[in-house]
Amino acid sequence: MTKRKAAGLYRQQPLIESYQGRLLNNQQGSYLNFSGNDYLGLATEPELVKALAEGAERFGVGSSGSPLVTGHHYAHRALSDALCDWLGADDVLLFSSGFAANQVMLQHLADKTDHLLLDKLCHASLIDAALNSDAPYKRFPHQDLVALELLLKKHPSALVVTEGVFSMDGDSPDLKTVFTLCQTNKADLLLDDAHGVGVLGVEGKGSWQQQGLKASDMLCLMANFGKALAGQGAFLAGSATVIDYLRQFARHYIYSTALSPALCWAMKTSVDLSRKQQWRRDKLQDNIGLFKTLAAAAGLTLLPSDTAIQPLMIGEADQAMRISASLKQQGIWLSAIRPPTVPQGSARLRITLSASHQTNDIRLLVKKLEQWL
Ligand SMILES: Cc1ncc(COP(=O)(O)O)c(C=O)c1O
Repeated sequence: MTKRKAAGLYRQQPLIESYQGRLLNNQQGSYLNFSGNDYLGLATEPELVKALAEGAERFGVGSSGSPLVTGHHYAHRALSDALCDWLGADDVLLFSSGFAANQVMLQHLADKTDHLLLDKLCHASLIDAALNSDAPYKRFPHQDLVALELLLKKHPSALVVTEGVFSMDGDSPDLKTVFTLCQTNKADLLLDDAHGVGVLGVEGKGSWQQQGLKASDMLCLMANFGKALAGQGAFLAGSATVIDYLRQFARHYIYSTALSPALCWAMKTSVDLSRKQQWRRDKLQDNIGLFKTLAAAAGLTLLPSDTAIQPLMIGEADQAMRISASLKQQGIWLSAIRPPTVPQGSARLRITLSASHQTNDIRLLVKKLEQWL
């Protein structure tokens, strides 16, 4: 702890008193929010709020048990059906978090004779899943598909693990090439699309659809409800055989209380809204475009990203913290992301854009960043 404090890496959990999408409020004041993952601005959508209340009234707040005992209700089935219809998957399994779903995806779909091959910047949940799996694992340099190909040639039975949109850098791999490499080398693809679902592709199906893949091209797909879908929990999607296998053996599924049915009912509404409200994705794209144009004109150096995640590299953690604190004093909530979340020396301000931002919010953010940098 002392070491962590001395290195400027001590973490705290700020208390948010009220949330209104583009605005956060606490006892100190009101802030423009550029640090959330509510990409479509659905978290405060009245229709979604209503669905949560209706779900609680119709099905109850808690599921009362694990899914194979008494925890799998009508609302869970309705949400699962909506997800299958949306993504074109045979079946899905619901989890209480993306972190848990990723443990299952890697630990139960790879065995001792397989190799897990992970992009170096994969999320902590994927790294922990690989570490705790029976399969040996290797990490290849971020987005280095030549290195991936070499590993695939060396390890004939492999599962490639990557993300549709990398959570801290905002970039996407060339999924078509990754898939072709998998096919050529008889490997399987496991995709975490936490930051792509709802946001990218036709009807927001995700980064894989945007890049021309089908749901059946992946052995398994993980996406969560905590980001664009504005709720909590996650799902794994795959063939009927894969999902049924997981239903039999996935310990995080079998031995854990099933998601709240009220929340599942709300998430079903969230899926419906994401599918039909293309205007939210259009608005988000406009906001990303505006931010990038203004940032370039102001001379801000961003990592290359076309997504809602726009990282501004700072370098040292204490400098990133200073800028973040100063912005907060000026009414802007923009958190600093520090090691170990990101590699040493690559502390950054991770700007996230949402469909709920207004033009003037983005103009103000860029003006304040320009003054600092
Ligand atoms: C890429 C990625 N995968 C998995 C997770 C974990 O999901 P959850 O927050 O639902 O546990 C996150 C969220 O932080 C993420 O960004």
